[in-house]
Amino acid sequence: MDSRPRVLLAADEIAARTRQLGAQIAHDYAGHGLVLVPVLKGSFVFAADLARAIDAPVRIDFLGVRSYGAGTESSGVVQITHDLSRPIEREDVLLVEDIVDTGLTVAHLVSLLQTRGPRSVRVCALLQKPSRSRVSAAIDYLGFTIDDLFVVGYGLDFDERYRNLPYIGALDLP
Ligand code: IMP
Ligand code: MG
Repeated sequence: MDSRPRVLLAADEIAARTRQLGAQIAHDYAGHGLVLVPVLKGSFVFAADLARAIDAPVRIDFLGVRSYGAGTESSGVVQITHDLSRPIEREDVLLVEDIVDTGLTVAHLVSLLQTRGPRSVRVCALLQKPSRSRVSAAIDYLGFTIDDLFVVGYGLDFDERYRNLPYIGALDLP
């Protein structure tokens, strides 16, 4: 059996913050809509809630990446496992990430998207661990900063488990 992660961010705290982010995004993109690009798999839960909190025309397209094996350290190598289904030329793109740890994944994905001629690329991340940052990745919309803990739930996994937890919990790793 999985041990039960201790609650770091409760479901209602996440929901309240997500609503604020959605309102801010709708305000900032007012009048011209945007393309939400959730990074799979980790951000599928956050993106589903965020999308519904944005009262503006939104298109959604997914990027799949793999930057972790079964461990908890970023390899720095980002493999694209699923690409966007449509061009993003002249579009306003908002990359949606679950967590920015070293920043390597976001930095890599932003430069990849920039090569496709979008009008703008911004980043929305639910969580950031500032103490672990290795590259400066600008996060335009941030939910919460957290300490250097390994967190799971609300889409985030440890070795593909815990994604369905409704809250964000910290795992006490051996
Ligand atoms: P980065 O490239 O080091 O910023 O790592 C980013 C990716 O690593 C995230 O999108 C997550 O998929 C994963 N990750 C980083 N920290 C955690 C964590 O505490 N729990 C679960 N996944 C994590
Ligand atoms: Mg991720």
